[in-house]
Amino acid sequence: MTQASHNTDKVLIFDTTLRDGEQSPGATMTFDEKLEVADLLDTMGVDIIEAGFPIASDGDFEAVQAIARRVKHATVAGLARAGFKDIDRAGEAVKAAQRGRIHTFIATSPIHLKFQLMKSEEEVLDLVVASVTRARNLCEDIEWSAMDATRTPLDFLKRCVDAAIKAGATTINLPDTVGYATPEEYQAMFEQIRMGVSNADRAIFSVHCHNDLGLAAANSLAGVRGGARQIECTINGIGERAGNAALEEIVMAIRTRGDALPYITGVEPKYLNRAAKLVSAVTSFPVQYNKAIIGRNAFAHESGIHQDGMLKNASTYEIMTPESVGVSKTSLVMGKHSGSHAFKEKLKELGYDLGENALADAFKRFKDLADRKKVVYDEDIEALVDNEIVSAHDRVKLVALTVIAGTMGPQSATLTLDIEGNHVTCQATGNGPVDAIFNAVAKLVPHQAKLDLYQVHAVTEGTDAQAEVSVGLSEEGKSVIGRGADPDTLVASVRAYLAALNKLAVRNTRGAKPDQMAAGR
Ligand code: KIV
Ligand code: ZN
Repeated sequence: MTQASHNTDKVLIFDTTLRDGEQSPGATMTFDEKLEVADLLDTMGVDIIEAGFPIASDGDFEAVQAIARRVKHATVAGLARAGFKDIDRAGEAVKAAQRGRIHTFIATSPIHLKFQLMKSEEEVLDLVVASVTRARNLCEDIEWSAMDATRTPLDFLKRCVDAAIKAGATTINLPDTVGYATPEEYQAMFEQIRMGVSNADRAIFSVHCHNDLGLAAANSLAGVRGGARQIECTINGIGERAGNAALEEIVMAIRTRGDALPYITGVEPKYLNRAAKLVSAVTSFPVQYNKAIIGRNAFAHESGIHQDGMLKNASTYEIMTPESVGVSKTSLVMGKHSGSHAFKEKLKELGYDLGENALADAFKRFKDLADRKKVVYDEDIEALVDNEIVSAHDRVKLVALTVIAGTMGPQSATLTLDIEGNHVTCQATGNGPVDAIFNAVAKLVPHQAKLDLYQVHAVTEGTDAQAEVSVGLSEEGKSVIGRGADPDTLVASVRAYLAALNKLAVRNTRGAKPDQMAAGR
């Protein structure tokens, strides 16, 4: 379904990655990173960017102010509690925006009133009126939020909403602050409040859902069904505790299921993947592999049946195209569930064109390998086919390695290699044991390849873990990854380096005659 075919009501997207998102423990962003995120949100077509909490620190104030000055299209909001100091600071921060908003909030639930605010309902009501009135004197666009709305008795919530609108609030946000609501309850709350407050049509209602029970996106959409027309969300769903509703899920649910959700948003989905990567990079929060829309497996297919279907027609197993969210293409992950159809396609993609018999042999070897390895990388498949074509053993093999490491320095390595049957030995020093080993390899096997990657992973747990090292080398536009495993990380390192050099030698000779290849020429 295209967005246009069902488009009716516009739902505003209010992004709070820079405020609620930044409140995630450990997700702090620098000033420049916040500007970069804000620029992308504005380009994507987000309607409101909540840029921060100006009273929280001078840094927050400066970031909100700078974002207010530079954003071209979106409204820029600053958060404030109900106190005048907060509100004035937020007003000052968003003053320079083409469209600024003060977002003020106070908790309304009995639990918060009793244990946190230690105030009566009447006192809170007075504060609602006072805070919204103060904010409205500074800015035309005022959002008022009833924190913990979903645990607030409806009668009191209605009185607060009515008072906030009378005092000048233009948006009313009813958050599920603790992620407690179910979709039915959340929808009903909006319906009842909108029906029970006489001036409800003078404000836009907003949803703000946390994901403590994994219901944030479903609750947000239910709130929209109940009449809300603004959704507060964050890129990658980051936010307090289990996070907020994820912007990418909301945007793509509305876009993909226009038949069931007859709304539109102004967000251009092709930026979603870029935004996810940017936010993950600046917060150092990894995106879970199976995260909807932007996880690395969201468009990856491993099972043979799925891969076969995908190769026949992508609509068999994909409800949206990867390109539509900015992912360049679907990936067929090769593993033990992959079938021969996908294997043949993968070989084609890697530049091999094998005859029937060679293909059947290679497929068998691939299945054997896939039984032993979780994921079979492109390089493994290349090695599997190259080894067969070359019918040669590695040109360079490890014979012995002794390393002197520790605090005394300089670290040194004595290395013996078998190069095409000849044993050669040398010693080299380096800045650390790995550097010393790699210098020794370079002495014995002179080459121009550039080291692109050196990565150590523990395959098992404990201090006796098997180490798996990956070494990436590139030379004249070709790049390879060699892997080596050993309980000794330094031995695994030299094995990985030699594996990469051997692969480069094979790569350089692919297409040449087998006797040349065996010699690595
Ligand atoms: O979750 C919440 O209630 C909030 C408010 C400040 C809007 O983030
Ligand atoms: Zn929140």
